[in-house]
Amino acid sequence: MSSSLWKRHGETHYANIQYGYYVLGISALYFIFLMVMRKVLPSRPATSSDSKFKKIIYGLYSIDPAINLCILLVLFLTPFYGHYSLAHQTSVYIKRLGRLSYVLLTLNLILNLRPNWLLYRDYTYTDFIPLHKWLSRIIVLIAMVHGILFLIYWGVKDERSVLSELKKAKNFVGLIVMIEAGLLLLFSLGPARRLNYNLFFATHNIFTLSLIFLTAIHARPGVGVPYLGINIFILAVHLISKTVFARSTDLLGKYTDYRNTNLVAVQLPRAALADAFEPGCHIRISPFRRINPLYWLLPSHPFTVASMPSDSTVDLIIAENKHPRSFKLEMGARYTIINNYNPAIPRLCLSSATRVSIVCGGSGISFGLPLYRYFKELHPVDYLHFVWLTRDRYQLKVLEDLLKESSFDGSADFHIFITRDLDSMEQEQQEQDDIDLEFELESFTPEQLDENGAVVGDTASSMGTKIKAASVNLGRRINWAVDLSNFVDASVTDTTWLLTCGPITLIDAGRQYAAGNGINFASEIYAL
Ligand SMILES: Cc1cc2nc3c(=O)[nH]c(=O)nc-3n(C[C@H](O)[C@H](O)[C@H](O)COP(=O)(O)OP(=O)(O)OC[C@H]3O[C@@H](n4cnc5c(N)ncnc54)[C@H](O)[C@@H]3O)c2cc1C
Ligand code: HEM
Repeated sequence: MSSSLWKRHGETHYANIQYGYYVLGISALYFIFLMVMRKVLPSRPATSSDSKFKKIIYGLYSIDPAINLCILLVLFLTPFYGHYSLAHQTSVYIKRLGRLSYVLLTLNLILNLRPNWLLYRDYTYTDFIPLHKWLSRIIVLIAMVHGILFLIYWGVKDERSVLSELKKAKNFVGLIVMIEAGLLLLFSLGPARRLNYNLFFATHNIFTLSLIFLTAIHARPGVGVPYLGINIFILAVHLISKTVFARSTDLLGKYTDYRNTNLVAVQLPRAALADAFEPGCHIRISPFRRINPLYWLLPSHPFTVASMPSDSTVDLIIAENKHPRSFKLEMGARYTIINNYNPAIPRLCLSSATRVSIVCGGSGISFGLPLYRYFKELHPVDYLHFVWLTRDRYQLKVLEDLLKESSFDGSADFHIFITRDLDSMEQEQQEQDDIDLEFELESFTPEQLDENGAVVGDTASSMGTKIKAASVNLGRRINWAVDLSNFVDASVTDTTWLLTCGPITLIDAGRQYAAGNGINFASEIYAL
C-alpha cells in the first residue's frame, strides 16, 4: 500500500475489498439458488388465506421482487454491522454503499441475459423483468445515497470542502454518475415508460453503460478487476445475443380492418425463425438493421408467434397502437427479427400437463393459439379448453383471415366471449345496416343458445364467422366458476394447468382461480 494512501485513510482504505467479494459471492449463490428453486418449488399460486410460509414459497417461485430483494438485502447489509466506528470511520460505510451498488450491477446484467443460457431450462428473461426493475432502482438509489452522503461528509468535515473535493477529477466523475443515476430513476418510472418508451430505453441504455464504465474510472480502490472485467464479458454476451441470432426479413402479408379494429394479423416468411421453437414463444422486431446505431439505442418490439414450427409462415397478431409514433409493421419495409424467446411457461407444463385450460384476452390470442394447437396436436391432453375474450366481432374477422388457410378446428373446445355489451352492439348494428354479420341474440332460436346465452356449436358459423368454435358468448365476460366448471379434477391437480395471457386484471383473476382450486398456473403479460 502506498504511504500517501496510508496517511489519507489509515488502515481503512482497503476495508471494503473483502466486502465486494462477499457481495459477488452472495450474488453467485443467489444465482445457484434460482437454478435450483424452479426445479423443486411447486408452481401453484398461494391464496390470500394461505399461510405466510406458502406465500413466501410462491413468492420465491414467481420471483416476487419484494421477497427476493428482502432476502438479498438482509445478506448484503449484514456486514454493515461491523467493527468500524460509524462516528470515526464514517467514510468506510459510505464507500461500502458505493461498492455494493457497483458489484450488484453484475447480478443485474447476468439476470437480464436474453436468452439466459444458464437459466434457460426453467426461466425466460421476462420472468426477471420485475426483479430487474426493483433491483436496478435499489442499485441506483444506493449509488445516489453514497454520493449524497459524501457531499454531506465533505461539507461537515473542517479539513475538506465540497468544492475542493469536486475539483478532483475522479470525484467529479462520481458526481456525473450520481446525476445520471437520478435521471435513470426518473425516466424509468412507470408513467415515464408509458409516455415515451423510446426515451426511456435510450436513456436507460446510455446511463447503464456509463454507470458501468464511469464508476470504474471513479472508484478507489479500483473496481476494474474483477468487476468491470466480468461486466464487460456479460455485455459482450448481450451484444452477441442481439447480433448472431438476428435475421433480416420483410412481411409476406398483413390483414387489417382499420375502420373497425386495431387488431391486425401479420405473416412473415417461415425462414424468419429457426427450424424449432416453443409454442407461445416470442420474437423481438426492430425496424433497424444491426449496423444502424438506432438498433442498439432504441427498443425492439416483442411479439408472440401465433403459429407453429410446422406452419409455412410465421404469424403475428398485433393490437396496433393508434399513436403516430407507435410501432407498426408495414408491407415493403425490412425488419430485423431477434431470436425467439421461450414463453413464460415451465417446461414441465409442456411435457407433462394432462388437463389444460387456456384463457386469453384481445391480442393475447397470439399466445393461446399455438399452445392450444400444441396440446391438441403434438401433446394431446385428457382435457383441453380454450377461451378467447375479445372486445368485438371485428377482432374475430382478423383471426378468421389468419386462419382461413389452416386446418384449425375448435368446434369441441374453443369458446369465444365477445365482451362489448349487447346494447352498444345492437345500436351499432342499426347504424351499420350494410354489415352482413347478424349478431342479435333474438335472431337465434332457443335451441341455438345454451343456458348462458352463448351461441353454440355449428351456429357459430351462421353468425358470419368461419372460425370453428364450440361457442360464441355475446356481451358477457367469463365466469370462472361456471365456464371452467368441468376443468378441475381433484385427483390430478398436479398435472392441471391454467394458462392465461391478457390484461393484468384477467391474469390476476386466473391466478386467483388457480390458487383457489390448487392447480398450476402460468401467464404471459404483454408489457415490460
Ligand atoms: C413477451 C411479450 C410478448 C408480446 N406479444 C405481443 C403480441 O403478440 N401482440 C401484441 O399486440 N403485443 C404484444 N406485446 C406488446 C407489444 O410488444 C407492445 O405493445 C409494443 O411493443 C408497443 O409498441 P408501440 O410502439 O405501440 O408502443 P408505444 O405506443 O410507444 O407505447 C405503448 C405501450 O407499450 C409499451 N411499450 C412500448 N414499446 C415497447 C417495447 N419495445 N417493449 C415492451 N413494451 C413496450 C409502453 O410502455 C406503453 O405502455 C408483447 C409484449 C411482450 C413483453
Ligand atoms: C433504474 C431502473 C431500471 C429500470 C426500471 C429498468 C428497466 C428495464 C426494462 C423494463 C427492460 C426491458 C426493456 C425491453 O426489453 O424493452 C430493461 C432491460 C435491460 N436493462 Fe434495465 N432498468 C433499469 C436499470 C438498469 C441498470 C442499472 C442496468 C445495468 C446493469 C440495466 C441493464 C439492462 C439490460 C442489459 C437490459 C436488456 C437490454 C436489451 O436487451 O436491449 N438496467 N431494463
